[in-house]
Amino acid sequence: MAGSYFLTTAIDYVNSAPHLGHAYEKVLADFFARHQRSLDREVLFLTGVDEHGQKVQQSAQRENVEPQAFTDRMSERFRELHASLGVQSSAFVRTTNPQHKQVVREWLQKLFDRGEIVFQEHEGYYSVRQEQFVTEKDKVDGRWPEIFGEVVHTKEPNYYFKLEPYRARLLAHLEANPDFIVPAFRRKELLGALEQPLADLCISRPKSRLAWGIPLPFNEDYVTYVWFDALVNYYSFAAPNGKQVWPPDLQIIGKDILIPAHGVYWPIMLLALGLELPRHLLVHGFWTNSGAKISKSDAKSLVDPVPYVGKYGPDALRYFVLREMVLGQDADFSDERFEVRYTSELAKGLGNLTNRTLSMIGRYRDGVIPSYDGFHLTEAENDLRSDAVVEEYKEAVAAFAPHLALQAAWKFAQRADKYVEETAPFRLAKDPAQAKRLDVVLAHLAESVRRLTVLVQAALPFTAIKMRAQMNLPLTPARLEEARFGTSLRNHAIGKPLPLFPPLEEKKEPASAA
Ligand code: ME8
Ligand code: MG
Repeated sequence: MAGSYFLTTAIDYVNSAPHLGHAYEKVLADFFARHQRSLDREVLFLTGVDEHGQKVQQSAQRENVEPQAFTDRMSERFRELHASLGVQSSAFVRTTNPQHKQVVREWLQKLFDRGEIVFQEHEGYYSVRQEQFVTEKDKVDGRWPEIFGEVVHTKEPNYYFKLEPYRARLLAHLEANPDFIVPAFRRKELLGALEQPLADLCISRPKSRLAWGIPLPFNEDYVTYVWFDALVNYYSFAAPNGKQVWPPDLQIIGKDILIPAHGVYWPIMLLALGLELPRHLLVHGFWTNSGAKISKSDAKSLVDPVPYVGKYGPDALRYFVLREMVLGQDADFSDERFEVRYTSELAKGLGNLTNRTLSMIGRYRDGVIPSYDGFHLTEAENDLRSDAVVEEYKEAVAAFAPHLALQAAWKFAQRADKYVEETAPFRLAKDPAQAKRLDVVLAHLAESVRRLTVLVQAALPFTAIKMRAQMNLPLTPARLEEARFGTSLRNHAIGKPLPLFPPLEEKKEPASAA
């Protein structure tokens, strides 16, 4: 094994059903996890759900069920979505897990004992929706902006975590580790946010107001604030077989939870506990739906990933989100765009190349990939024998640009497609004098398809397995090194070709009025 790799995603609130944004983030992490496994690394991959807090308590109340029963049911929907998308995590995180609660309490106690957490009276405005205190400064045109929901005036003593003493150290860490926050423009935003002194973070809620949380070990009349509970999951679930893994190599989050949660609270909690900071915090952008922001508070904008998985298959959705979004930027989802990529890049692209290659080997060579020793190779064949695509793919993933990695793989597939046009095997097959030439062509096509099974496996794991089954190759995930050109397929008998991406039904043109 070439070492280990530890990555995490944000854990999703269970107060409503999972949407495309949730699906994207988990697929993205699964892509990196599979890639790292293909580099021979032992991967620890954590993802799951965030189950405590006011919103969950309220949603449960509305449905007149206990919060635990509510979250048991909702968590299952997220878990099922992950399974249907082929997201293979090491564990499914749930913050109601007793072991997790224990670690949260240990962390709180440690920080309390060291004087990092203090008890203070606070009077002010509180946003129920954002679960935070707000100030007059947060008002826009004299009113609380929509995002705060109901704002109430409260006066109560609470526990506060002191952030300011760590601001200078966090800034120093950001300076010394320019690739801690990816992409770079997010790092700049965080540096900007750290120019001002940091207010103490309220980390408790009286049980009378919020019962659905983890009680503070030093005062059981309070529960801990959601972020102090949720962030700890990255540590509390990172002990497979009882052995703590730390720090994470990669933590993936959306842009709305960088500042302050993951960019300020989280690293400062770690600094205060003397734990190492994650190597990379990768911040992705947001999906919009035909221009409108996708969020659970706007039912119209929501894209439910489940019907797409049902209609087009999990890999079609995985491919679309990984290929369409430039990691870090926002991207737009629409059925039109989805269907264009499905048809041109999956059905007519990868699917057709695989199918015609295997069909020709069936038809012209009885399903056995020919060998072709001692033959002059053309420039086209040298293109198909080049390993540049593997380097390009690897570099793109290392630079957190899955869309470019897929672009490289598809460029290679297009080269193979063009090769079919250039060499016209159906014509070679009619001329017995061209038999050896046809061997060369079919062998190069088969090898290109084999290499593609490796190049697409992190993004399209189900398709990679189907392709390998049709080629009669081992179904276990391949090492990325196997995407290099080789000659292992000489005289290899393939299986039966089957379509990978069925064509979409032609849309009927509306009958013309004329
Ligand atoms: O924030 N496009 O949970 P959450 C892309 N429980 N990503 C999106 C998105 C969109 N339209 N909408 C949301 C939470 N996300 C906390 C996290 S971590 C210790 C606790 C992303 O369900 C969002 O940015 O509101 C976040 O990374 C993830 O989905 C969960 O969001
Ligand atoms: Mg959110």
